[in-house]
Amino acid sequence: MTQIDKTKPVMVTGANGYVASWLVKRLLDEGITVHAAVRNPDNEQKIKHLKDAAANSKGEIKFFKADLLSPGSYKAAMEGCELVYHTASPFTIEVKDPQKELIEPAVQGTANVLNSAKEVASVKRVVVTSSCAAIYTDAIDTVNAPGGKLTEEVWNTTASLAYQPYSYSKTLAEKKAWEIAEGQSQWDLVTLNPPGIFGPPLNPHNTTSESMNILKMLGGGDMKMGAPKLGIGVVDVRDVAEAHYRAGFTPAAQGRYITAAHNTNFLEMGTVLLPKYGDQFPLPKKALPKWLLMLVGPMANKLFSRKFLRNNVNVPWKADNSKIKKELGMTFKPLKETMEDGFQVLVDEGILKAK
Ligand SMILES: NC(=O)c1ccc[n+]([C@@H]2O[C@H](COP(=O)([O-])OP(=O)(O)OC[C@H]3O[C@@H](n4cnc5c(N)ncnc54)[C@H](OP(=O)(O)O)[C@@H]3O)[C@@H](O)[C@H]2O)c1
Repeated sequence: MTQIDKTKPVMVTGANGYVASWLVKRLLDEGITVHAAVRNPDNEQKIKHLKDAAANSKGEIKFFKADLLSPGSYKAAMEGCELVYHTASPFTIEVKDPQKELIEPAVQGTANVLNSAKEVASVKRVVVTSSCAAIYTDAIDTVNAPGGKLTEEVWNTTASLAYQPYSYSKTLAEKKAWEIAEGQSQWDLVTLNPPGIFGPPLNPHNTTSESMNILKMLGGGDMKMGAPKLGIGVVDVRDVAEAHYRAGFTPAAQGRYITAAHNTNFLEMGTVLLPKYGDQFPLPKKALPKWLLMLVGPMANKLFSRKFLRNNVNVPWKADNSKIKKELGMTFKPLKETMEDGFQVLVDEGILKAK
């Protein structure tokens, strides 16, 4: 049981990111002082939305400069904090050097942040933004999991440096987090494991999160002939922020939490947008047949390898979200609301243009 004092500052790594920005806003709205660790606090464009959120809230924000690859760089931001949220990690799928671009910042970054937490006496709880990617790689893994669905007991055993290295980076980083946590008794560790996060970005022009790229693909015409029925999980970014909040401040929170709202697929994520946006945007209306994808997919997009398509197309994705509902009292927004609200921000900001 860990009681966190809300009058003490709370630290967030990667505070300007898509997910972290909503968490920072949630904390500020609660009247909490946030120690926001970012790579470049002088880049006004990247942090303006956080300053605006602070100005419109009861809370306060202080910025700190830190980098995942620079040991000890998060320590100053951590001083005086009982609660540390570690969300920073590169979320890019297309990389040239997965070891350098994904594995090193994810794993060394986690070690960097959690080792500093051992040296700062005020820290009582660390909440790490892990991912369902640390649990599975392909939808077929959910079918093969005990009981045919992902649970907190399951670990990803199928990702590698050569195949889905982002998932591999999240798996190695979460393992590192548990290893460090188990070697000490000063603070407890809670991890959140969301699948695909969608919904409105607070910083639409200043995130490279893959979540934005998927929305752009759906609304930008790449899928106008149809979308692959790839099984995935989805959760709203605002619900992920709330889950982080509850994971931090619920004394009995413990272990991993699958933070998934919907067992869905890529096609459905597009078709829920049709009633509101179907006339103006070239959204997918039907499923692309698997045989066609197997034939042209690998040429059209190098991420759509035959192995990936075989393991994901027309394969249902299933995860058990009962632990987070029961222990943290979470409820989740409907898929349509999540997809529409995210899409609308990209339309309002001119990132997606009507035809
Ligand atoms: N979006 C999803 O669907 C999803 C699903 C499950 C889990 N997650 C996890 O959620 C977390 C946030 O992802 P996101 O979607 O919000 O992506 P994002 O907007 O790209 O945020 C990533 C954050 O990590 C920071 N970062 C990257 N490399 C860094 C480095 N070397 N040193 C310091 N900071 C660094 C980024 O800083 P800069 O802005 O300076 O680059 C940014 O603040 C990640 O841990 C991701 O794995 C995301």
